[in-house]
Amino acid sequence: MVLEDIKSIMISEEEIAKRVKELGKQLTEDYRGKELLIVGILKGCMLFLSDLVRAIELPLTMDFMVVSSYGTTTKSSGVVRIIKDLEREIEGKDVLIVEDIVDTGLTLSYLVENFKSRNPKSVRICSLLDKPDRRKAQVDIEYVGFKIPDEFVVGYGLDYGENYRNLPFVCVLKPEIYTKK
Ligand code: IMP
Ligand code: MG
Repeated sequence: MVLEDIKSIMISEEEIAKRVKELGKQLTEDYRGKELLIVGILKGCMLFLSDLVRAIELPLTMDFMVVSSYGTTTKSSGVVRIIKDLEREIEGKDVLIVEDIVDTGLTLSYLVENFKSRNPKSVRICSLLDKPDRRKAQVDIEYVGFKIPDEFVVGYGLDYGENYRNLPFVCVLKPEIYTKK
């Protein structure tokens, strides 16, 4: 049973829903009259993105990218591999990258540079979570859901070994779950 693996809930379903609404409102104001393209970084973005786009009251388009950063399950290495690229050109578009979490920042600093070389009108980042303590590469995150301490979290799209993504809240697992296997 999944619930037995949870040590504590860090951000509840209600807190997430409230913050996503606020972000949606802010994005609606900031992107009014622009050609908004939401780019989701799969798979971590899936729950956040699906709630966020419903809170943005503007016409927009969506595209997705699948990336993998080489490394162990809980530490990323900074080498980013694009497994699935965008389907359409982003030239002239106002791109908003939607991510689950910025940790070292290595994944996003690579992606932002990669995107900028494709001549979009603008590129900004919206991340559900920000873990600033472990930052190795500087990234400007214009829209942050929650700043969190340096703990490995799962739920609401975030995984540990591909599990726990479907939990409706963000939580920390019991230490024995992270050490086994
Ligand atoms: P970064 O390149 O270190 O910023 O790593 C970003 C990616 O690492 C995220 O998109 C997640 O897939 C993963 N990641 C980093 N911290 C966590 C965490 O606490 N829980 C789950 N995944 C994480
Ligand atoms: Mg991810």
